[in-house]
Formats: sequence, structure tokens, C-alpha cells
Amino acid sequence: MTRKRAKDYSARDYHEFMLASESDRGLRLTFQRAVLARLAPGATILDFGAGTGIDAKVYAARGHRVHTYDASREMRDFLSEDCRAEIETSRVSVLDLDFDALLKLKRVNGATVDAITANFAVFNLVRDHAPLFEAFDRWLSPKGFILIAAISPYHLADVRYKWWWRHLSNLVFSGRYDLRTGDDLTYRFGISAMKRAAAPHFVLDRIIPSAPLRHASKQDLDSPAVETSSCGPLFLCMHHFMFLLFRRH
Ligand SMILES: C[S@@+](CC[C@H](N)C(=O)[O-])C[C@H]1O[C@@H](n2cnc3c(N)ncnc32)[C@H](O)[C@@H]1O
Repeated sequence: MTRKRAKDYSARDYHEFMLASESDRGLRLTFQRAVLARLAPGATILDFGAGTGIDAKVYAARGHRVHTYDASREMRDFLSEDCRAEIETSRVSVLDLDFDALLKLKRVNGATVDAITANFAVFNLVRDHAPLFEAFDRWLSPKGFILIAAISPYHLADVRYKWWWRHLSNLVFSGRYDLRTGDDLTYRFGISAMKRAAAPHFVLDRIIPSAPLRHASKQDLDSPAVETSSCGPLFLCMHHFMFLLFRRH
């Protein structure tokens, strides 16, 4: 099945699709688990590119405070409605700004955050990561972490597409490429390009296995453990997503 992008859907279609898709649910649970395992009780999170707030709701239900940002007003509106109870009790907040205004913020609602998360390919919709990491440096607490779920440009399932071969030399020599498919423009980044953009402030701490949890359940979130294994190149070739964990130098 061809995966549609968020912009092909209304916010509600996206929300319902993501909750109904078993593989996406498993992937999401793996990501949420990796986040929750690294948070102290009552931590503060910025969910960057929060979409309809599926992750924010889960983090808030486990006692964390979540600031959300999404560049799409439609997504922000949907999230505000769907997380109304969490917003009313100050467990979730919505940054209602355009992207350029967001990048200028000194702090997130006046304070630093303990974690910045970006799930489901948000970074593949942002052409230049350097200004983003620059802003993350102002917003993240000294011991904080950033977890990004980005599309793996090494995924061998994509070699069947002509575009993959067309862009291979760009990936090898510059570590990134712009991908135009129909009216869509997205971006693919290799590990080296992500590390370069983050480098003034952050290092890649590890690549967390993104394999969807089999028979995943809510229990996996209530007792999350930090994974013991790290991913090698073979894993990146076999999976659509790579979970990149950044920390300060
Ligand atoms: C595939 S969705 C993922 C949404 C959410 N993180 C999730 O896990 O369901 C990608 C989201 O990134 C948002 N987005 C695109 N460009 C962005 C930007 N520059 N800043 C913040 N969000 C952005 C889109 O509006 C969309 O909601």
C-alpha cells in the first residue's frame, strides 16, 4: 500500500488512519516507549510537528506536561479539540505560531523542556535542520534529549523506485536530497547530514531500534525499559524509520 502523507488528508482523516493502521500503531508505541523510558516523572516535553496530538495525549496521561507545535493550523485546531481536557488542565499546550515565529522563541512558554520529540517523519518535511537545532539548543534543558523518527534513506524496499536510484549519488556525496513526487516535496537525510546539522550543539547518542512492537499493548508504555540494543547499518536498510537520539556534547 502506498503511504499517503499528512497533507493528503484532512486532520481528521490523518488521525483516524493513524489510529487504525496496525503497523503505524506498533511503530508509534515503540517510539512512545523510547521517549517514556528516558523521562523522569513530571517531565516537560515539546512535541515538535505534533500533528493531531496522538503522542501528546499519551505522554500527558502518564503525568508529563506537553507543549505541542505543528506548522499546520488545521492540525493545531484538531489537536486543540481532541486534547481539550488536557489543555484545560494545563497538561497540554499548543504553540499557535507560524514556523518562523516559532524559531525565534527564546524559551518554550517561558521555560526549558526535558525532551523534544518529532515522530513520524516531521524532519522529512523540513528542508534545513540547522536553524531547528539552533532553536532546540535554546529550548532544551542541559540533560535533555531529542528523539526524531525520520525516514531511513537506506531502506532497501525503496530501491524498486526510479527516484531512489536518481538520488543515490546525492545521498552518497551530500548525505541528503530533495524528493519531488507529484506535487509533494519532501526531504531525505542520511545520518551524516543529520549529525552535521545538529553538530554545533548536539551529538547523535544512538540509533534506537524502530521495529514495531509485536502484540503491542498499553502495558508496554506503563513499564517502559531503555532498550539495550543499538542499530547497525543492516537495521537501517531493513526498516522504513530510524529513531535518532540526540543529546548535548
Ligand atoms: C506525518 S505528520 C506526523 C504528526 C505527528 N508527529 C504524529 O506522530 O502523528 C507530520 C507533521 O509535521 C507537520 N509539519 C510539517 N512541517 C512542519 C514544520 N516546519 N514545523 C512543524 N511541523 C511541521 C505537518 O503539519 C504534520 O502534522
